Amino acid sequence: MSIWTSEINLKRYNTFGVEAKAASIARLHTPEDVLTLLEHIWLTGRHCVFLGGGSNVLFVRDWPGIVALNKISGIEIIEESEEYVWVKTGSGHNWHDLVMWSVERGLGGLENLALIPGSVGAGPMQNIGAYGREIKDTFWELEAVDVNTGKVKIFNLEDCAFGYRTSYFKSRGKGLWFIQSVTLRLFKKPVLVLDYGNVREEVARLSASPTPADVANAVMHIRRSKLPDPALLGNAGSFFKNPELPEKKIHALRENYPEMPVYPSAQPGYLKVAAGWLIEKCGLKGFRRGACGVHAHQALVLVNYGGATGTEILDLARHIQEVVHRTFDIMLEPEVNIIS
Ligand code: EPU
Repeated sequence: MSIWTSEINLKRYNTFGVEAKAASIARLHTPEDVLTLLEHIWLTGRHCVFLGGGSNVLFVRDWPGIVALNKISGIEIIEESEEYVWVKTGSGHNWHDLVMWSVERGLGGLENLALIPGSVGAGPMQNIGAYGREIKDTFWELEAVDVNTGKVKIFNLEDCAFGYRTSYFKSRGKGLWFIQSVTLRLFKKPVLVLDYGNVREEVARLSASPTPADVANAVMHIRRSKLPDPALLGNAGSFFKNPELPEKKIHALRENYPEMPVYPSAQPGYLKVAAGWLIEKCGLKGFRRGACGVHAHQALVLVNYGGATGTEILDLARHIQEVVHRTFDIMLEPEVNIIS
């Protein structure tokens, strides 16, 4: 591992395409690299931010410390039974690559999560989810390094405390661990989840007896029609979470807005509201301010048309929060990690 100490432009390392600078950059290819980096950090007291695909971050200023790029990759089958295959993957491995690897082998569990940008390690961090599935549905365990001691610990499903777009690593354990590998338990006899939005319809166009690969293809088609490709238009997927609110409040809101989309929540007594709908209802879909704006096809996605700074995007996000709060008395919470 080497730490490059010249100033680095982070533009190509974050999918928003924001032009922040980092003082140093390190590339981690192996678990040994992680230890070497940690020793450097302990010795020098420098700050470090770990990046996978850079698909869920917003840099709002230059980063005075080290940006460590996680390149620990590799997919390995570690166990098999009649029903399951346990697959261990390096946390820096590209997520979509893993999904494609699984569906090509007819394995089920990840097909609804096709085309989510980012790395495998970011999956459990925020319990990535789409079209009725979350990573927690196939999660088995992960290996994480304690950034203060260098010791490796195994976290099982319960330890990770997964919630909607959150986990122990995004809450109490924030900043304390580096996720090194993730083991998922995939299904040999897949049960397909087709009930979200128009997934069933899209899948039916592809096959009468669908496989996980068909579902992945349908999901890819839906995503491409709605969500901007970060390679073409800077973005970090959904900028905000869908708010989870007490049922009572939702019922009251629905009296005025019966068409408001609502989803079940894992929290008892709560329901989830579609933030994209709230933003659109406030007239902000397609809203543009300077070089950034609200995506014209999905109001939950903020986009960088080219040259927007992190601060401009954050100001836009605050504006959206204010308008939604004023209109619905609901405070949207960012899903994206803001690095300041
Ligand atoms: N909607 C609108 N206007 C919009 C956007 C959405 O009215 O501009 C409505 C839709 O018509 C639909 C509802 O809101 O009735 C939900 O929309 P959609 O199915 O597009 O999903 P979402 O709730 O906006 C979530 C995830 C996405 C994931 C999709 C599909 C969050 C924060 N986002 O978005 O994940 O792909 O569901 O499962 O939960 C991400 O996390 O980065 C991400 C893209």
